[in-house]
Amino acid sequence: MMSVAKEIFTSLSDRPKNLSNLQWLHYDDEGSIIFEKIVLQDEYYITRSERRIFELNSDDIIVKAAGDEKNRLRIAELGSGTATKTGILLRAALKYQRGPITYFPIDVSTTALDEAQSSLNYLLPDVCVMPQVKNYVTDDFILPSFDGCTLVIYIGVSIGNSSKEEAKNILHHVYEQLKVGDALLLSVDMCHDPSVLLSTYNDKNGVVADFQFNVLRRLNREFGYNFNLDQFRYQPIWNEHKSSVEQHLQSLCSQQVKCIDQFGEKTLHFDKGETINMIDSYKFSIEEINMLLNITGFTIEHIWNDEHKWINVILARKL
Ligand SMILES: C[S@@+](CC[C@H](N)C(=O)[O-])C[C@H]1O[C@@H](n2cnc3c(N)ncnc32)[C@H](O)[C@@H]1O
Repeated sequence: MMSVAKEIFTSLSDRPKNLSNLQWLHYDDEGSIIFEKIVLQDEYYITRSERRIFELNSDDIIVKAAGDEKNRLRIAELGSGTATKTGILLRAALKYQRGPITYFPIDVSTTALDEAQSSLNYLLPDVCVMPQVKNYVTDDFILPSFDGCTLVIYIGVSIGNSSKEEAKNILHHVYEQLKVGDALLLSVDMCHDPSVLLSTYNDKNGVVADFQFNVLRRLNREFGYNFNLDQFRYQPIWNEHKSSVEQHLQSLCSQQVKCIDQFGEKTLHFDKGETINMIDSYKFSIEEINMLLNITGFTIEHIWNDEHKWINVILARKL
């Protein structure tokens, strides 16, 4: 397998330059802090809508996910972050279970997991938090066997940050960790008005832009690059063909960027106007998501959505 350093350099040497296959690079300590600011921006309806769906439906979601009144439940979450919204579901799960519940948050960010653990320990002491610092794209996360129903949560519309192939691999791995009858709760952002979608990733405070620039700062800090951030500008683009908001950094001039690491010195060339696609945010139709779930072994059982039907929270089952 290619090392991360090599994959980064290869992706930046390609034409077009593309780091979207390494979207998790966004979530170092600084990136995780910036993400918490993104969700507070007026333009970022995703978190508000998803939270509202959970507030209105958490009991229903948990009862339907558990499937059978007698089923004991446990919850695992991919890319839990600080688990702020998940707290709403965990509260409903405690009510359903009438006793303690085990929760496995899985995330690349230690900072986010530490915060999730300390806030849940304080707010919901009956939740037994078992964090796993893992990259769910490149590492195997393992759930211990369990004699009840496992609900895997994958929310924050995070599946939209993966290519279709990567999304399939992630869901396939979830499938392998579950037994027949276990459940998956997946949230997706649907394809709708491109101007609304674009503005979600182009907030007036420039926080999403800063989230992208932080990746260049991280490459400078950890991977030996010397990007001059002043020579780039943020440019989000709606790619109709891919149904994705691509978040690019565009070079303002013709320039060389050096990378000095243990393998020596290498140079990247940027033409004036050339861009790096830093991350994709794919938007879905219900047919696409249905197909993705079917080919990875899940069947949709129920969908909750917001007033605009932009965010779909989907309960699917391994049959
Ligand atoms: C869009 S945020 C969502 C956070 C939270 N679930 C929410 O709904 O607000 C994505 C989270 O997934 C984590 N993440 C992204 N890619 C990951 C990967 N490949 N493996 C593990 N965690 C990842 C990030 O650290 C971040 O906490």
